[in-house]
Amino acid sequence: MKALICPSLGPPETLIVADVERPSAKAGEVVVDVVYAALNFFDTLIIEGKYQLKPEPPFSPAGEFAGRVAVAGPGVTGFKVGDRVMGATGYGAAREQIAIAANRLAHVPPGLPLDKAAGLAIAYGTSLHALKQRAEMKPGESLAVLGASGGVGLAAVEIGAALGARVIACASSDDKLEFARRYGASETVNYATEDFRARLKEITGGKGVDVVYDPVGGAMTELALRSLAWKGRLLVIGFASGEIPKPPLNLTLLKGCDIRGVYWGEFVNREPEAHRDNMSQLLSWAESSALSVHVYAKFPLEAYLQAFEAIAKRQALGKVLLQVGKDL
Ligand SMILES: NC(=O)c1ccc[n+]([C@@H]2O[C@H](COP(=O)([O-])OP(=O)(O)OC[C@H]3O[C@@H](n4cnc5c(N)ncnc54)[C@H](OP(=O)(O)O)[C@@H]3O)[C@@H](O)[C@H]2O)c1
Repeated sequence: MKALICPSLGPPETLIVADVERPSAKAGEVVVDVVYAALNFFDTLIIEGKYQLKPEPPFSPAGEFAGRVAVAGPGVTGFKVGDRVMGATGYGAAREQIAIAANRLAHVPPGLPLDKAAGLAIAYGTSLHALKQRAEMKPGESLAVLGASGGVGLAAVEIGAALGARVIACASSDDKLEFARRYGASETVNYATEDFRARLKEITGGKGVDVVYDPVGGAMTELALRSLAWKGRLLVIGFASGEIPKPPLNLTLLKGCDIRGVYWGEFVNREPEAHRDNMSQLLSWAESSALSVHVYAKFPLEAYLQAFEAIAKRQALGKVLLQVGKDL
């Protein structure tokens, strides 16, 4: 079968599409025919050995997928051949088939297309965990989302709106902001052309922002921290800018505010019940179209370079997919 392989750590140009053996299903496992594998920003890091998760090459990138059950292994209950399923694995999904523990799979509800299901688990899972369990977001509070048109950013915009927050989308171009408005942002800040702090102050009537969702890092983080309201919360999601910031801690004292870290993968392992509740909430929102799970583009597996480029060049709006199998 075909697989996208990272044969040794390096940039996307080192990846290859190769023929590999089909996996078999051990006890408790399911083999899935992957239809779509979704890429995230961290795939650009994992293939270079620059991410916290460091698989040994050779491995396949792509941490999430949707497809159909091909084989249910010994002892598996609840899944049968042909079922539409989705799952998250960290890495390993950019291949025609994947073997995965049945308890890491979820059924895709009938009203949800497989392409939208493929990109739901990580970005939307992260943003719901961040806003619900970490920020304890309340209806009516203000939420500034940095990188608001990216994978986790758009998810935070949509989930924030669904939770009743007043969503302020923050991004580097007017097109990206217009896009975020379509999915629930009521206010916008272009941080490439506007004074970020002055605009957030103006939008919140001088009070400051209750919650900041920050997947960007770098210089933006300190500006965001300085824009928080009394008892505000800064959510540390990631560092797409490439720089881990070191903001002065006196700012937390002055504002009685919190800096809260978010690590979705660890949440899934440590709090499986809360994760399952979050996933059923996301699936039901996605099925009823309360979440768009907007797909920026579906690239054939062989066009992986273009898919990685869309992420690295900051072009992607929402999710980037690799199409591996036929979507019947
Ligand atoms: N904590 C967790 O559990 C968790 C889970 C998933 C992802 N993450 C992290 O969240 C971050 C975003 O992931 P994603 O998959 O949503 O990425 P994405 O779709 O590529 O979006 C990232 C956004 O960051 C902004 N950005 C600023 N500087 C950038 C740069 N130099 N290169 C690329 N983008 C830049 C861009 O928006 P503008 O152009 O508008 O600035 C872009 O839309 C990553 O750091 C990822 O590792 C964390």
